[in-house]
Amino acid sequence: ATGAQEPAPVPAPVAQEPHPAQPVGQFLPVDGGQVPTTPHLAPTPPEAVLVPPEAAPEPEPFAAAPVAEEAVAPVPASREADPELVQSVDDLDTRGADEDDHGAEAAEAAEETADATEAPAVDPASQEALAPQDALAPQEAPHDGSSAGAAEAPQPVGPAAPAYDDAERAAVLKVMRERRDIRNGFRSDPIPHEVLLRVLEAAHTAPSVGHSQPWDFVVIRSADTRRAMHELATRQRDAYAKSLPKGRAKQFKELKIEAILDTPVNIVVTADPTRGGRHTLGRHTQPQMAPYSSALAVENLWLAARAEGLGVGWVSFFDEREMVRALGLPEHLDVVAYLCVGYVDEFPDEPELMQAGWSKRRPLSWVVHEETYGRRALPGEAPHDLLAETVAQIRPLDAKALGEAWERQKRMTKPAGALGMLEIISAQLSGLSRQCPPPIPEPAAVAVFAGDHGVHAQGVTPWPQEVTAQMVANFLGGGAVCNAFATQVGAEVCVVDVGVATDLPATPGLLPRKVRAGTSDMTTGTAMTREEAKQAIEVGIETARDLVAAGNKALLTGEMGIANTTASAALISVFTGADPAEVTGRGTGINDETLARKTEVVRRALELHQPDPADPIGVLAAIGGFEHAAMVGLLLGGASLRTPVILDGVSAGAAALVARAIAPEVLAACIAGHRSAEPGHVAALNKLGLRPLVDLDLRLGEGTGALLALPMVQSTARAMHEVATFDSAGVTEK
Ligand SMILES: Cc1cc2nc3c(=O)[nH]c(=O)nc-3n(C[C@H](O)[C@H](O)[C@H](O)COP(=O)(O)O)c2cc1C
Repeated sequence: ATGAQEPAPVPAPVAQEPHPAQPVGQFLPVDGGQVPTTPHLAPTPPEAVLVPPEAAPEPEPFAAAPVAEEAVAPVPASREADPELVQSVDDLDTRGADEDDHGAEAAEAAEETADATEAPAVDPASQEALAPQDALAPQEAPHDGSSAGAAEAPQPVGPAAPAYDDAERAAVLKVMRERRDIRNGFRSDPIPHEVLLRVLEAAHTAPSVGHSQPWDFVVIRSADTRRAMHELATRQRDAYAKSLPKGRAKQFKELKIEAILDTPVNIVVTADPTRGGRHTLGRHTQPQMAPYSSALAVENLWLAARAEGLGVGWVSFFDEREMVRALGLPEHLDVVAYLCVGYVDEFPDEPELMQAGWSKRRPLSWVVHEETYGRRALPGEAPHDLLAETVAQIRPLDAKALGEAWERQKRMTKPAGALGMLEIISAQLSGLSRQCPPPIPEPAAVAVFAGDHGVHAQGVTPWPQEVTAQMVANFLGGGAVCNAFATQVGAEVCVVDVGVATDLPATPGLLPRKVRAGTSDMTTGTAMTREEAKQAIEVGIETARDLVAAGNKALLTGEMGIANTTASAALISVFTGADPAEVTGRGTGINDETLARKTEVVRRALELHQPDPADPIGVLAAIGGFEHAAMVGLLLGGASLRTPVILDGVSAGAAALVARAIAPEVLAACIAGHRSAEPGHVAALNKLGLRPLVDLDLRLGEGTGALLALPMVQSTARAMHEVATFDSAGVTEK
């Protein structure tokens, strides 16, 4: 017995004209009622599995605090008064449409999430038993914003110092909100001395370590000096441009990154790390406190300048030592900032990099943690569970945008359906983004999750385990196949250590997110604990968030882990119900004897754990890998941010099965990049109802198949933008 059960029957994908024999991408039910008829959309996948709130790693000291009471606590008042300052998940424009169409639904989901993350109905006695007896644990923290140690703190005597009145506070918050980094639209009007003086005085009132006031301000007006600085910056700009993946380089070309020549005044802000002598209070353990202090002076200057109607642009495209020499600065100084200052035509509402699609603002709710890192909660709110929150934000394809996409495809100057599967992908991109035409998914990034596997000990592959770490070094050095393919298609390679057995040195491009140094052997126990599985999923969600906030418009799955096709086969067996012999493959190219052993290993693991597909996290923990779990997170995270995720091979297929069991609508974001030579992958794709774009017997992993598919996905979106319609081109229809 494999222990594999059907979560629910999935009807076979409905064939579609003009190739009735071929399976088509299976879509989810759509939001908004009317489902377009051609190509036909397949019916609902299995029911969502409720993500059970994990047993809290620490007690929920806030459980007793009634939420309703918190809601009326005075804390959020100022947030209401200044809604623009509150960044929430809503800030990402991926969610904009929710507000119009699904506000109530979203609120309901948020409520559910909050409910789910509230302490489950646990016997307080047993909760206590679970509590780590850690002095740092937030045992006593009340939920009203008051200090946990209030009992020991001196009792307040008399009234607190007065706050600013409403108008004053509004002015302070307004200047922070409306401060912008400016690179365009400077004017040549001179800056009166008294104005510049006020701005410099503001800078000079900044806080500093040990009150060392390490800053100096060099005010540059000379055209010659500015020209020399401009040349230095241009050289660095060119070097940076060369280092970018093609997808990014195109965008960067459009960006202006400095206004050295366009502004009447440039200001160099330095930090003197020796000022204040040897015993500067607070600097002895952290020498970087000196430049930090100067950076605060920059912020003061920036805000005061905004209040004066002066724009400031910070240029950091310099080799610092080169600049020190060129400006004749004392060698012991650090240059903290080079600022271009002048009057401007206007201050944009949003950062220019956001307007250019280079980045997105991260919501405040992503970055505020209550007591311990990872326990995210805004003041006055209960901590939220990252996985549950992510699942709650996943929505089906939008019916309106989907309908518009089909209509547009019909009107484009080509026979209807002539782009076959690509028409379906373009409609999916529209439904996902809620825009028609959909955004072109560029730039794109492949996240290569690396992890090791305890089951390696069972002799399932001839490759030694160290190869995982060695290949990670190869990815980072740019020497792997995925690097070559990524360069070709202009994508970024992001390498994530989610569970490599050995310690990896810090290297640019490597995200150190190790949950544990390799899983345990699934034939003798669970590969990981439930908590670890969830942690690895969260690594994937966070990676999706980071890559999307950094401006990527498509995510690709990649993975590296010697022995991971064994775990993939086990996962696929559970979720498809196929016998291990049908879904266990040769991976890197093993011989018959090793294949027989590998199949037996999968069978033994399934017999031992009897994994229940209705408990996807339990399945992952029993027989999965850290990289599988992280890919599950990437898929869920991508879907929650309405960003397409192109799946690579068999391990991604296994992860997609797990993700679908957690949140069926995750498939709205999934595109099958390719079909690998592994038999398990075919079983997974059939079960998912996804039709692969590339079918070339690849069996490498690393994201290579997904990378090859990326230009197809981008092409179909571009066609929606650029192909003329019969009306616009005056072409006669059939
Ligand atoms: C330390 C630092 C260095 C920066 N260097 C540059 C730079 O070299 N070129 C540039 O165009 N913008 C630079 N910026 C500006 C940022 O791009 C800008 O602050 C960010 O996009 C947010 O936009 P906002 O300041 O308008 O809110 C820098 C900002 C900081 C804080």
